Amino acid sequence: MNGMGEILVVEDTPASLKLLSDLLGNAGYLVRQAPDGELALWSASARPPELVLLDVNMPGIDGFEVCRRLKADPALCDIPVIFLSAQYEMDDKVRGFQCGAVDFIAKPYQTEEVLARAQAHIRLARTQKALKETLEELRSARAEVARNERMAALGALVAGVAHELNTPLGNSVLLASTLEDRARAFGSQIGEGVRRSDLETFAADTAKAAGLLLRSLYKTSELVESFKQVAVDQSQERRTRFELGQLVTQALQPMKASLAEQGIDLEVELPPALEMDSYARAVAHILQQLVRNAQVHAFGEIGSAGGVLRVHAAQLDGEQVRIEVHDNGCGIAPDTQQRIFDPFFTTRMGTGTGGLGLHVVHNLLSHVLGGQVSVDSKPGATCFCITLPLTAPALSP
Ligand SMILES: Nc1ncnc2c1ncn2[C@@H]1O[C@H](COP(=O)(O)OP(=O)(O)OP(=O)(O)O)[C@@H](O)[C@H]1O
Ligand SMILES: [Mg+2]
Repeated sequence: MNGMGEILVVEDTPASLKLLSDLLGNAGYLVRQAPDGELALWSASARPPELVLLDVNMPGIDGFEVCRRLKADPALCDIPVIFLSAQYEMDDKVRGFQCGAVDFIAKPYQTEEVLARAQAHIRLARTQKALKETLEELRSARAEVARNERMAALGALVAGVAHELNTPLGNSVLLASTLEDRARAFGSQIGEGVRRSDLETFAADTAKAAGLLLRSLYKTSELVESFKQVAVDQSQERRTRFELGQLVTQALQPMKASLAEQGIDLEVELPPALEMDSYARAVAHILQQLVRNAQVHAFGEIGSAGGVLRVHAAQLDGEQVRIEVHDNGCGIAPDTQQRIFDPFFTTRMGTGTGGLGLHVVHNLLSHVLGGQVSVDSKPGATCFCITLPLTAPALSP
């Protein structure tokens, strides 16, 4: 690339063409000439110049048409085009800008004006190109960061699952090998004669070990099941349009009976006809998790007489919606609050999926729905607050 820039001059009058070319050439530009529109287009696509100076009136394809075709070609559309035309043709100016020109020089022109405009537009185009490249780099860097974050999140999840599986699997192996040893030892005793009481002890021990073994294996398969759920929830859903009120009602429907049975009052307050374009299953899953948590954790220990669960939604400025789930249960201790969104954090070992619930809620909001979740809690008043855009971001691959 020439330091000053390469300019394609398109002009059908040979004298004008030479005059302009000399002027620009003497100023240090690399100049290419085209005596008509056809050649101009051919020359531009053979090697895109940094600027086109284009005469309006030419036989054959005129300047406007040349400009239109340049602008229609994605490889050439960013090249600035300056029109050259007689001063009195006011209409030309308007038409020129309409077909994508950046500037207009009236004939007869002044040398300084031509040079100043050419330089300004080449600089501007270079800056724009650099900006575009930087933006592209930023975009791909951002995608890379998002990908890394997802991989890190997945890595943490897999590590957590492996860790969780390790305990019941380790126990299973230990129990199975103990059983095997005992059976062998017992088998070798048979030749020497076995007392009835030995037989009874062996049967009882074996049944007990087998029971423990089964429990460990059930726990293992439960964990695998929950891990599958996490993976499926996050990936296999399409964005759809739905009405939030309807979705909330549907999501809470299956939980109504057990809430009533527990004596918990469910109050639902929703704005009428709030349309969303988002991931319905993810939103429903989040609500169910929050309500289930209140059921199990907020009221579980202290009993639920007088328990109230309030689900409240409101539209916010900027096309956002806030959904709150309040309970008047036991509350969450401040140091616990910091950890409830961590994978496998639970205060109730051995129930549910062992602390994946809120981690999945957090992941769905930040990676799928483009929103966030926060918690505010003291004894007697806990509120999980989620905010999310009415239109979810498109999922990046
Ligand atoms: N409404 C609530 N009131 C009191 N404690 C809560 C509430 N919601 C969540 N918690 C606390 O946050 C912890 C983490 O919740 P999370 O949903 O991630 O796991 P979990 O419910 O224990 O297990 P699961 O994986 O089955 O959901 C709970 O163990 C509980 O201590
Ligand atoms: Mg939970």
